[in-house]
Formats: sequence, C-alpha cells, structure tokens
Amino acid sequence: MSAHQDLQDTIHTMVDNRRGILAADESNPTIANRFASIDVESNEENRRAYRSLLLSTESLSDYISGVILFEETLTQSDQHGVLLPQLASNNSIVPGIKVDKGKGPLAGSPGDMITFGLDGLDKRLQGYKEQGARFAKWREVYPITNSNPRQLGLTANAETLARYAAVCQQQGIVPIVEPEVLMDGDHSMTRCAEVIEQVLQEVFYALYRHKVCLELMILKPSMVTPGKSSGKATPEQVAENTLKVFKRCIPAAVPSINFLSGGQSPQEATENLNAINQMANNSPWQLSISYGRALQQPVLAAWLGKAENELSAQQALLKRAKLNSLSRQGKYRSEMEN
Ligand code: 13P
Repeated sequence: MSAHQDLQDTIHTMVDNRRGILAADESNPTIANRFASIDVESNEENRRAYRSLLLSTESLSDYISGVILFEETLTQSDQHGVLLPQLASNNSIVPGIKVDKGKGPLAGSPGDMITFGLDGLDKRLQGYKEQGARFAKWREVYPITNSNPRQLGLTANAETLARYAAVCQQQGIVPIVEPEVLMDGDHSMTRCAEVIEQVLQEVFYALYRHKVCLELMILKPSMVTPGKSSGKATPEQVAENTLKVFKRCIPAAVPSINFLSGGQSPQEATENLNAINQMANNSPWQLSISYGRALQQPVLAAWLGKAENELSAQQALLKRAKLNSLSRQGKYRSEMEN
C-alpha cells in the first residue's frame, strides 16, 4: 500500500463525530510523577500492568479511536503474552507513538523551549510502523510570559513541528501536531488568546512551506484559558475565545482538532469541550480530545497499583471516555458525573 493510502486509511479509522484519543505516552520521568501521586513505584512491571489495564478496558473503543503510546510500551505484553499495540488493535483502537525526545531551552531565545528528536526520525518511524504504530505525536512547548514566546521561539518551534509532520507523512504515519501553550502563570485570557493565535499562524505557515497535507494530519492544541494563577473562566468564555482564534488560524482542510487537557481537571476539561461543541455550529473540524491527565487521573486514583482494583480503574476510564464522547456532541451535563 502507498504511504498516501496508509494515511487516508488511518484518518478514516480514527476520525468520527463521537470518539477521541487517549494519551498514554508519558515518558518515564512523567509516569514516575503520576505513580508517585498514588504511592506506586515506577518500574517496568508496574508500567506494563497499568498500560495493559488501560488497553484491555472492555468497550473502550465505543469512545476512544486511538491511543498514543510511549516507546517502551510497544515492546510490552499483557498477561496472556499479547503485545500491547496488538492488544489495542484487537480492541479496535489504533496504536500511535510519541516520537519526540523531550525539550530543552532554545538557544538565542531566553525563556523559550525547543523539542529534540528530528535526527534519524525516518528510520525510527519505519521501526515503529513495523511494531504496529499508525500515527505519531510530537509536542512543542510554549511558556507564556510578557516576552515569551519570542519571534524566534515561534518560528523555530513551528519549523520543527512541520519538519516532523512532513517526515511522518512520507512514511505513511499520520502526524499529530501538538503546539502546547502552557497554562502556567498569571497571564490573562486575552494574552493566552494572543499567543495561541501567533503560535497557530506560524505553525500553519510552516506546515504549508513543508508541503504537509492538512487533510492527513491531526492538530492537538491547547484551549484558550487564563493562566493557572489567574482564576478560572466559564466554559462559555473558554469556548468563545478558543473558537474565535481557531477560525482565524486553522484551515478548514484539517479534519480533526483533538485538545490536550494541560492541567485542567477531568470535569473542567469535559465541560469546556462540551461548551466548545455547543457553540461550534457547522464547524469544518471535528472538535475532540487527546487527553492524558483528564482521562487518567480518576483511573490512577481507583487503581492504586493493586490488581484487585483493575476493574474499578477500567470503569473510571470508561466513564470519563463516555462523558467526553457526550461532550463531543454538546450533550454532557454535570449531573452525569454522579
Ligand atoms: P494532558 O492531557 O495531560 O495535557 O496530556 C496530553 C499530552 O499528550 C501532552 O503531550
């Protein structure tokens, strides 16, 4: 099959009007933090047991069409010896892979970050594809201050995302393009909107220069919210500001926008997505999730590293996935939490 046909098939399988993506691609230091919050040691066996629990959740594919995995997970198996990417596929969930190698300071642009991992990416993607991955994720991170992101930060991060996306498409792997504008700080919602607009303008200009086919990618952006130390906006305010920026910046050719949760609580992330979908009449894009923490926090809290809690942990995952599926259709109500 040609790379183009692979891309079309993957988009066709993953994008619809009720499901979303589960981000379970925490790097080892990040999953160690998540496990520490429930007093569980982060060793290979615990990570395997936890991710195998997520992927074997019955009926998860009613609400989840794809899962982003971390490299280690590609080689791990469930208790019956089934490789975890295969387990996902067997349960009608498309496996994907985080391919960036983390971030560091961007030289020449104080306060801005840049993500590493482009060298040898084509070879790595070929290997991941043989291991079952059909899509990839790459995250660039933008802190907000009065002077960040700087113009160099905007340009360099956009260029990196576009180079990654172009290599993915060449290999028949659907790229998830993730420019994460961080919620940390005391900035206003207006400042957040201004930054997300700058970021998206630069990202789509770079994708155009690098000849990335917009129909065959997924965008994973942040919502427009006030900084974490500036209090909360209502879901209607988040929706209005997010959609206003998106209409200015995101071409209609992009099939699906799958938000990150970025530190919003599980309920908040569901409420905000619900308001966005209620307000987005006749939107050209699907407006969905690619949540990590907002799907997994209740799962970790129910699991606590104990085999006897696996079923209740899976029920917690299914509940959040279902509520987010309802919010995709603007049909979520807070009473449904109980
Ligand atoms: P959060 O939803 O926890 O922000 O994670 C999404 C993700 O994949 C970040 O790269």
